[in-house]
Amino acid sequence: MNCSIRTENQQDYDKVDKVIMAAFKNMSESDQSEHLLVKRLRQEKTFNQELSIVACIEDNIVGHILLTSIFIKNKEEQFETLALAPVSVLPKFQKKGIGAQLILEAHRRAQFHDYKSIVLIGHEDYYPRFGYQRASSFDIRFPFEAPDQNCFAIELIKGSLANVFGEVVYPKAFFE
Ligand SMILES: CC(C)(COP(=O)(O)OP(=O)(O)OC[C@H]1O[C@@H](n2cnc3c(N)ncnc32)[C@H](O)[C@@H]1OP(=O)(O)O)[C@@H](O)C(=O)NCCC(=O)NCCS
Repeated sequence: MNCSIRTENQQDYDKVDKVIMAAFKNMSESDQSEHLLVKRLRQEKTFNQELSIVACIEDNIVGHILLTSIFIKNKEEQFETLALAPVSVLPKFQKKGIGAQLILEAHRRAQFHDYKSIVLIGHEDYYPRFGYQRASSFDIRFPFEAPDQNCFAIELIKGSLANVFGEVVYPKAFFE
């Protein structure tokens, strides 16, 4: 099975939305609105097309991942970072390493664009394999009621979060 990874383009939007809907369809933790979040994030001024990535098998889109520029803020300082949300793989193609390919490519592109860290809320058993650590270990908090074990951050460059702490500030698209 040959899976290729490329940048999402505008012609992909409807297909990507369907992939996201299918991926989250049977998830009890989801309100099945992730595709709407992606639609809103594509409208943000900070939207970076190169950080919206698709996985394809024989020209069919089977997965997608999006990174969005956000901030971690404390009383004195703010630090630019990225939010990883969401990542989706069509159910039929899950557990074949496509999610991992998307995440690793997202990391590579984030570094290329000079980002030094990523934060996310996600499955506690999935993200540590990519190097994600509990965000609380960096004193990074989220404005959502999510259990500690689901709140993650990764240093794309070792030590890059050493002096970064505070609350993650999401664009309002995340709350609509
Ligand atoms: C999460 C998701 C993107 C992973 O994609 P994938 O292509 O199946 O991932 P990979 O093949 O790289 O990895 C598969 C591994 O992830 C694990 N995994 C997948 N979903 C998981 C979950 N909800 N909780 C814990 N582990 C999970 C699998 O058990 C498997 O583990 P193994 O390697 O030990 O067997 C995909 O399952 C998906 O789209 N899920 C629905 C949407 C979703 O939950 N998105 C993430 C929101 S945080």
